[in-house]
Amino acid sequence: MTGALAAHHGGSAPWASGPPSGTPCALFDLRGLDQRLRDCAAGAEARDITLAYSIKTNPMPAILRQARAAGFAAEAISGAEVAAAVTAGFRPDQIVLGGVAKSWPTGSIAPGLMASLDDTLDGFAAGVRASRGHRYHCVRLRFPAVGSRLGFDTTTFDQRERLATALLDARADGVPVGLAIHEHNVPIARAEAWLTGIRSMLNGLNHAHPGILGIIECLDLGGGYDAACLDDLLWGDLGKALLEYVQDRVPRCRTLILEPGKSLVQAYGAVIGTVLALHPDDEVCVDASMAELPWPMSRRPVSVWRNRRWTQIGEGTGTIAGRCTAETDILATSVDTAGLVPGDRLMFAEAGAYDWSMRNAFGTATVIETIPGDDAAA
Ligand SMILES: Cc1ncc(COP(=O)(O)O)c(C=O)c1O
Repeated sequence: MTGALAAHHGGSAPWASGPPSGTPCALFDLRGLDQRLRDCAAGAEARDITLAYSIKTNPMPAILRQARAAGFAAEAISGAEVAAAVTAGFRPDQIVLGGVAKSWPTGSIAPGLMASLDDTLDGFAAGVRASRGHRYHCVRLRFPAVGSRLGFDTTTFDQRERLATALLDARADGVPVGLAIHEHNVPIARAEAWLTGIRSMLNGLNHAHPGILGIIECLDLGGGYDAACLDDLLWGDLGKALLEYVQDRVPRCRTLILEPGKSLVQAYGAVIGTVLALHPDDEVCVDASMAELPWPMSRRPVSVWRNRRWTQIGEGTGTIAGRCTAETDILATSVDTAGLVPGDRLMFAEAGAYDWSMRNAFGTATVIETIPGDDAAA
């Protein structure tokens, strides 16, 4: 899906007309992303879903401005990200704060946020007491059978009762309460299992304390979707089934939030490198490295610029290694490197998400080029 997306918008992408003169070079297709954001915002509005762009996935200010202009909310993990969102034009009541700990001292956190998500009942109670005017206070539940440091564990009846009590106490103090969930990897093939997991967690909570779902006013289902899964939530049967469940079992839910990140931005970034040398054992070495592509991805699409166009490299027995001498600096495996020669330009696709946010300038000054999106003046 993401490959298809990139192909669809490839005509306007900054790499479409050829490689840049200097490499390694990171390129981002702001115009293509703008269309994707606007499409998704329209789909979400039609289903009364709030999309909160996950800032950490790619915090480029131009992307935050585009997300805001398209009608997104924003999801922050720190005070610094809340500040970045405010600078990009989001109002506090358009920002969800859902990092690993609210006590993380990184910048000031504005009052009046859309939602504050806590992973512990103590943190939740403290947030409720601090009364900073946030619209919803939510407890995040740990996704069952998925290794995660996030979320309150509700696998036992006793924990579910404790959670229900905490929610009821907050509600008795007049605080609108919600539940949050995040599963870090929800490809379309696992989307049904994801929805089943959510249903079973919420039903289990209602079983421990009948009626507790009736006080929930906000449900935040996090991110982790691939592009096809987000599309299914916004336009397909997955979203329909989710909405039916929520209307039926969480009848007072007024705000249903999704926090997509990579399903929006990943397809719109690429890194271009140049082949420096050929090594024995089917390995080529390029001037890009894990500093530009730090996020592990199996089968990342790699293309070579030949005959005035990008041609995707097929499968093979070769390896593409980066400029770092560390043995771990491998950018692609199981690729056909047989025809590559020094000087060839290679494009590593799907690099617009965590590769972007975690990049560093190891050993060189990475060149960043973008083309302006339609909101350039915003
Ligand atoms: C709570 C939460 N929401 C949203 C996201 C965004 O995830 P993705 O970029 O996989 O959609 C993350 C990623 O770690 C997350 O932890």
